[in-house]
Amino acid sequence: MTASRSFLDYRRFIQGHYDGPAGALTSVTGLLTGHEALAGRLIRPEAFDVRGCGRILDAGCGNGRYSRFLLKHADPGALVTAFDLSPNMLQRARRRLASDRVTFAVADLTRLPYPDGVFDAAVCGWVLEHLPDPRLGLRELARVLRPGGKLLLLTTEDNFTGRWCGRLWHCRTYRRDELQNVCGECGLRWGRELFFSRLHARLGIGGIIVELHREEPPAASQAPAP
Ligand SMILES: C[S@@+](CC[C@H](N)C(=O)[O-])C[C@H]1O[C@@H](n2cnc3c(N)ncnc32)[C@H](O)[C@@H]1O
Repeated sequence: MTASRSFLDYRRFIQGHYDGPAGALTSVTGLLTGHEALAGRLIRPEAFDVRGCGRILDAGCGNGRYSRFLLKHADPGALVTAFDLSPNMLQRARRRLASDRVTFAVADLTRLPYPDGVFDAAVCGWVLEHLPDPRLGLRELARVLRPGGKLLLLTTEDNFTGRWCGRLWHCRTYRRDELQNVCGECGLRWGRELFFSRLHARLGIGGIIVELHREEPPAASQAPAP
């Protein structure tokens, strides 16, 4: 579960990779693979429903692919916070979204500059597979979500297509059972699993996409009656 690469090497790699040509290519690869359009099948009232969520986080927002749909389907007054470790990816997201309802920040998923419990919902798409240890990112996401708040987590699955993506994007892959365990350890309850389409579900492709819920703190035990 913990990769051998150190966090220092990892941060250097991510910034170099996504600030450089690989990051510039994400909009092209997103169109070629259909991910640009498929994102809209996940963030909508029938799938990951963000209506009623006042503050929404896009963690590792990249070029803003998911924020675009968050803005489209959230209530008109909802605010989106989008952050990324790569300044150039953030610049791409800024150009694409151009909305006064989005705040952008260069930030690291493993050390978030936000107070506890401020977000009602979050999306974290294809970021976790880059971390040397997923627990650091998942714990931070759980911390900044309010109790009961929801997270749409998308990550590369350990199957034939996932391993190819891992090679291409220099990231690891996850088995569903190990990801479920580690989410539980970090206070995130596994909920509904989603797929881009029925075909993706039938073929078992498209990655692990799951709605998680930040655990509610246990109800205070009642004092025994005198
Ligand atoms: C494959 S891209 C996905 C971008 C976007 N979420 C999407 O689905 O289109 C991975 C993104 O995660 C960012 N990233 C990786 N590690 C990060 C970290 N620790 N904190 C913030 N962003 C990170 C990268 O800079 C990159 O923009």
